[in-house]
Amino acid sequence: MNILILGSGGREHTFAYNLLQSKRCEKLFVAPGNAGTASIATNVNIKATDFEAVKKCVLENNIELVVVGPEDPLVHGIADYFAETSDLRDVMLIGPSKRGALLEGSKQRAKEFMMQHNIPTAAYESFTVESLDAGKAFLEKLNPPYVLKADGLAAGKGVLILKDLNEAKQELENMLKHSKFGEASSKVVIEEFLDGIELSVFVLTDGKNYKILPTAKDYKRIGEGDTGLNTGGMGAVSPVPFADEVLMKKIEDRIVKPTVNGLSKENIDYKGFVFIGLIKVNNEPYVIEYNVRMGDPETEVVLPRIKTDLVDLFEATYRQKLNAINIEIDERAAATVMLVSGGYPEDYEKGKEILGLENVEGSLVFHAGTKSENGKILTNGGRVLAVTSLDSDFKKALKKSYQNIEKLSFNRMKYRSDIGFDL
Ligand code: AMP
Ligand code: GLY
Repeated sequence: MNILILGSGGREHTFAYNLLQSKRCEKLFVAPGNAGTASIATNVNIKATDFEAVKKCVLENNIELVVVGPEDPLVHGIADYFAETSDLRDVMLIGPSKRGALLEGSKQRAKEFMMQHNIPTAAYESFTVESLDAGKAFLEKLNPPYVLKADGLAAGKGVLILKDLNEAKQELENMLKHSKFGEASSKVVIEEFLDGIELSVFVLTDGKNYKILPTAKDYKRIGEGDTGLNTGGMGAVSPVPFADEVLMKKIEDRIVKPTVNGLSKENIDYKGFVFIGLIKVNNEPYVIEYNVRMGDPETEVVLPRIKTDLVDLFEATYRQKLNAINIEIDERAAATVMLVSGGYPEDYEKGKEILGLENVEGSLVFHAGTKSENGKILTNGGRVLAVTSLDSDFKKALKKSYQNIEKLSFNRMKYRSDIGFDL
């Protein structure tokens, strides 16, 4: 069948790479894609949030399966648009409805959902500009550090963790009164700080049944030793060594099952990924956040470990038959290291030529922010390439990635040399 992937990052290049392993994949399109997807599929120059353009592309190319990479089109209701449009109704779209996507689109909604379905998470309250004073009073009752979260989508920047009470009060005011994160911070969730180690669990659900995919851990800070500014993610490993059977059983019983049952009880149409950000505190798992898509760069280590035909898996998801499918996982560990532009996550330059791609051996290079121009591959974003390797353990996998990175270069290329340091 013909397949369309929406998005343009390392996650989407990895989806493309995996889907092409399926005998069932005939023509593969990526919109808008990058230089990496262009080398293995057909890029279509449309935005994932331009639903009319997506429709035209689907109809013109006889697309039967659409895989939505990023959260934006989901939060804007692309699944509902497909369900409500007669020509598109039979197209298998992987991604939740707008109501499902609110689990990522609104932190307050996510917290309410967790409370409603007894899913362990940090205690919280939410505030608006009208209740600013109550918000400040709530902060006084908490112990530092203080966790402030913009309710809406803020491109991964909407969470502040502050040690000082006065600073926390000031930032709460900046968010509510001075629109620090625009409309996204017109409501703010304040929550209890949880002290522990983070991991992510990925679930594919058809709204009734689910499959737990490999665990992963990403490294969000720009600097070695988890210091400096937050980024989209500088690297990841899978599986997470401390996610043993005992912890995974707790996660499945207390978090995954109640999440899927909660979606079903609330009649939410959800055929897609649930990315559960967790924190382990004294061996007990708590949910930090839900995302309604796969993570990036977590996809770059999770998907290469999935041996099951991805088209079969997606079709089972769409037809609510996930219970009938077996998921086979590669026992090897995977690690990925992101190569980023100098200056990222603040200002950086684009358009630098990437050299050495043809010399990489024994690793997979997934493109994130790249484009091709006159036969050259150029940088086109903050995160540029993800270098993934598989081996018997994540340290060996990392070693391969770092060896291959030596062969790659572009002006002001940067990466973290300590991925997995805390494991
Ligand atoms: P989020 O966007 O909700 O994932 O938050 C971004 C990051 O902030 C998370 O990956 C955690 O490192 C941190 N964080 C969020 N909520 C908490 C919390 N309640 N306690 C401790 N750290 C948190
Ligand atoms: N790597 C974190 C995310 O995709 O949100």
